[in-house]
Amino acid sequence: MARFIITESVPLKGKVRVSGAKNSVLPIIAASLLADGQSVIEEIPYLNDVRIMCELVESLGACIELCEGNTKLKITSGSISDTTAPYELVNKLRASFLVMGPLLAKTGKARISLPGGCAIGTRPVDLHLKGFMAMGANITQGHGYIEAASRGRLKGGKIYLDFPSVGATENIMMAAAIADGNTIIENAAIEPEIVDLATYLTTMGAAIKGAGTDTIKISGVSCLTAASHAIIPDRIEAGTFMAAAAITGGDVIVENVVPDHMKPISAKLREAGVEISEELTSIRIRGGELKAIDIKTHPYPGFPTDMQSQMTSLMSMAHGTSMIIETIFENRFMHVSELKRMGANIKIEGRSAIIEGSNKLTGAQVKATDLRAGASLIIAGLAAEGVTEITDIEHIDRGYMNIDTKLSSIGAKIIRIAD
Ligand code: UD1
Repeated sequence: MARFIITESVPLKGKVRVSGAKNSVLPIIAASLLADGQSVIEEIPYLNDVRIMCELVESLGACIELCEGNTKLKITSGSISDTTAPYELVNKLRASFLVMGPLLAKTGKARISLPGGCAIGTRPVDLHLKGFMAMGANITQGHGYIEAASRGRLKGGKIYLDFPSVGATENIMMAAAIADGNTIIENAAIEPEIVDLATYLTTMGAAIKGAGTDTIKISGVSCLTAASHAIIPDRIEAGTFMAAAAITGGDVIVENVVPDHMKPISAKLREAGVEISEELTSIRIRGGELKAIDIKTHPYPGFPTDMQSQMTSLMSMAHGTSMIIETIFENRFMHVSELKRMGANIKIEGRSAIIEGSNKLTGAQVKATDLRAGASLIIAGLAAEGVTEITDIEHIDRGYMNIDTKLSSIGAKIIRIAD
């Protein structure tokens, strides 16, 4: 089983470049199904999740070519040859549910395996489906699959999301792009990845206004044409490097970031005593004495749930007591029992983690239970006395491109042991 061996590291120092955002590239690959012709997507993070999404759209009729050191994808799409996303793929990658909007809009039908449970909660898809129903689709469920069908083209509709779901906003936006008439999504998610998807769709000829605000208006067009697009930088990867720099008291410049996207993370790190300075496309982090802070996760521009576990590690090394409240996912404290094995003093009460900081963690054998939980163990391992061995690192590889190589380049002592 592949694993990381991490030894307590000196303060990290140097420059590290962030890859394109995983959470942008996945919907953008799905959206390519809507176009006719060859789209070119740059700044690809060629992660396992991206590979699975490519496999899925290929199985639906698209043709994919990977070039320039796996950083560029050429996606040729036209007619859809299959409208089923099978369990084997949806089970591996929940985001594969994002092909439902494009399939339904383009062919009038889609059959997608139910995503099922995942490590961080039940993660339903009811909001996606409500959106499709408001656009005239008929939804049925059976044998572990959800089937959506419409008579002719989808019709524009007015959709109020009970919660600003990222995935539902993306799926509905893609479907509405080539529906008949106008669609309005209210209480839409406003994450930068939504704006990135809207930019791509607009370049393909879609008429979308308001992406990045809570009301998105889409005027359906008859067809979309292939386009070129570069994926925005991954704000969670950037935040993870920032936390790694902070926990080692390092001095690191994180390159290829949009500082504006980092505000919710930068603000909290500053509050914790970390010095942060911003340039146009980079952020410099200088670690100092860490102070305990309270954090509550929220949809953007609130503090991202995807950075919650990394901050839990950081607060384990801070002076004082921190409280971290997770409001987005119901079961996202799986890293806590692993961090406790490393000497962290953390109590869970419902959706809150109460962390008694101390400046000592000790290396131990721990397991990455999910992607971000795994990232938090790397961060803890960098500061822990002795050696930390992290198993199940395939979860980490789902969301971080060469994290070991990148961290080594700024002084971390991290070694990958292959299967
Ligand atoms: C996306 C991100 C994920 C991030 C999350 C929240 C991708 C590929 N993944 O996931 O990394 O942690 O946003 O920022 O972009 N919900 C419902 N019904 C629905 C849909 C969602 O109740 O139909 C609930 C979920 O259970 C969860 C909350 O809404 O509690 C947020 O989910 P959502 O914003 O949809 O997250 P994802 O798009 O799955």
